[in-house]
Amino acid sequence: MASDVREIVFATNNAHKLSELRAVVGDHLKVLSLEDIDCHDDIPETGDTLEENSMLKARWVKDKYGYDCIADDTGLEVVALDGAPGVHSARYAPGDGHDSKANMELLLHNMEGVTDRRARFRTVITLLTGADGCRVVDGVVNGTIATSPRGENGFGYDPVFLPDEAAGLSFAQMDADAKNMISHRGRATRTLLNLLEKQA
Ligand code: IMP
Repeated sequence: MASDVREIVFATNNAHKLSELRAVVGDHLKVLSLEDIDCHDDIPETGDTLEENSMLKARWVKDKYGYDCIADDTGLEVVALDGAPGVHSARYAPGDGHDSKANMELLLHNMEGVTDRRARFRTVITLLTGADGCRVVDGVVNGTIATSPRGENGFGYDPVFLPDEAAGLSFAQMDADAKNMISHRGRATRTLLNLLEKQA
């Protein structure tokens, strides 16, 4: 199995996600971007779960472009909001979606006066290889929602997420390596690599 995943596409247009994943996989896999394969499709994310969305994205690239493929889907699940924004994290604020500032502002607004600020990030990664190889893994990081944004690094909700293991720092106040060590995506990626190494 290891030989047929040597070169894979990561089905994302998010440069931050791409560099995070590349940093974790190192030399184990050659990770191509959607741009590298000239894919400029608006890949639908119409599933009701992270698993469905990550499968939809991976399946799209595998079926249409023929490449072995990794796709991730991530949700921020806030306890006091009954797990929202969850699978809708990218489109939490009204509008076309993917407006991280608007999403964070809505989250902070909805959390005003809330004392239970526990939350977690969860990433699901689907890997499709060969004719019918399929692996699905996930990674979780627990934390709390800050009362205002902190830090400039990272992307998405990073400025308002304080991982339990980071002594009060937000993801956006950590460097890329420190985030990768404890993050949902770093954990899911390492689980996937371990799985592949065991099968090699
Ligand atoms: P998706 O997996 O690209 O659909 O991401 C869902 C939402 O979560 C988007 O708003 C992303 O910006 C956000 N998101 C995904 N991963 C991270 C992360 O590592 N840190 C902060 N926000 C993230």
